[in-house]
Amino acid sequence: MSGSLNVFSIEANHTSMAPSVAEKVEDVVNGTVASLKQESQGKEAELAPKDKGPSYPFYYPHFDVSEKFPPTEIFEFTDPGTRADPKKPHLLGPNTKTKDVSPYLGTEISGVQISELTKEGLDELALYAAERKVLLFRDQNFKDIGPEKQIEIAKHFGPIQKHPTSGNAKGYPEFHVVYRDADHDRFREYLGGDRINHTSWHSDVSYEKQTPGTTFFFILDQPESGGDTLFLSQAEAYRRLSPEFQKRLEGLRAVHSAVAQAEHSRQRGGPVRREPVETEHPVVRQHPVTGEKALYVNQGFTRRIVGYKVEESEYLLKFLYDHISKGSDFQIRATYEPGTVVVWDNRLTAHSATGDFDKAIRRHAVRLTPQAEVPIPA
Ligand SMILES: [Fe+2]
Repeated sequence: MSGSLNVFSIEANHTSMAPSVAEKVEDVVNGTVASLKQESQGKEAELAPKDKGPSYPFYYPHFDVSEKFPPTEIFEFTDPGTRADPKKPHLLGPNTKTKDVSPYLGTEISGVQISELTKEGLDELALYAAERKVLLFRDQNFKDIGPEKQIEIAKHFGPIQKHPTSGNAKGYPEFHVVYRDADHDRFREYLGGDRINHTSWHSDVSYEKQTPGTTFFFILDQPESGGDTLFLSQAEAYRRLSPEFQKRLEGLRAVHSAVAQAEHSRQRGGPVRREPVETEHPVVRQHPVTGEKALYVNQGFTRRIVGYKVEESEYLLKFLYDHISKGSDFQIRATYEPGTVVVWDNRLTAHSATGDFDKAIRRHAVRLTPQAEVPIPA
């Protein structure tokens, strides 16, 4: 573990959670550890009586330690939202119903199929996701349209990130699989120990040079209740700060690191498909379409403020993490029903899984994570 991570762990003693734990949480939530356990046994997991297995075995998390990806290269990016008609006629038709989950973020949408949207409709989806931060599409056939079509739709929003450590689908590294069932219960094993709660705020793979933008997450198996995803608006979190404090943050940069995630996977005999990177990003970023400013630090991957001494960096990051995690008035819970697809803008939000459901219950979901622009400093 690097010096910077040790430093962070010291700070974490004074906060609710150590980032190293957050990394583990993410991996466990992703199903990495669970499925490694299965692989190490070299046999199919023994399923609980009457359990027919995953509804969508194609997306069962796949790990191949020999799978390697080259370093990510910089690509040109234009956000599809820049092309969108602000009235969104190709997305929100006469049969579409929308209901805001909260004033600051989250809108539930029914009466539209993502799979049937035109290019114009997808452009409008990007804009809508930026405006509302999180969109909950109900009753989607997205999970049944097949991997090629799913990838094709997600690619409209940018090249899809291939995760360096998590479970993917065999032959389709674009899929990032989230999996837990009765035999793969390391989630509780990990978090039931020294943790009071299982909350783990992060923005996905924020260590990438070009961080994720419009992100897709579709559920395949879910508990009847629980397993929600918590989301918060980093834009509202930024707006809550005083103008003087906002001024202090603008211009600052922070290091986001993939090292702990990679080390954690390596220690468990899991894949490290791409050598881990550490990337500097602005602490306050600006959205390329809406111009909205948002905090861009998260406990999962942000390690230190560039140019600050250790205690200064810890002090500032602890304040910001406390601020966003306590902001229940700019947070929502995204709930899942069969057919739900959640689309969110990773540039303007942070999120956390909730591992509150019984360990005997299967939860299986898949993320497609298009990468967007190099973060624009505010
Ligand atoms: Fe995540």
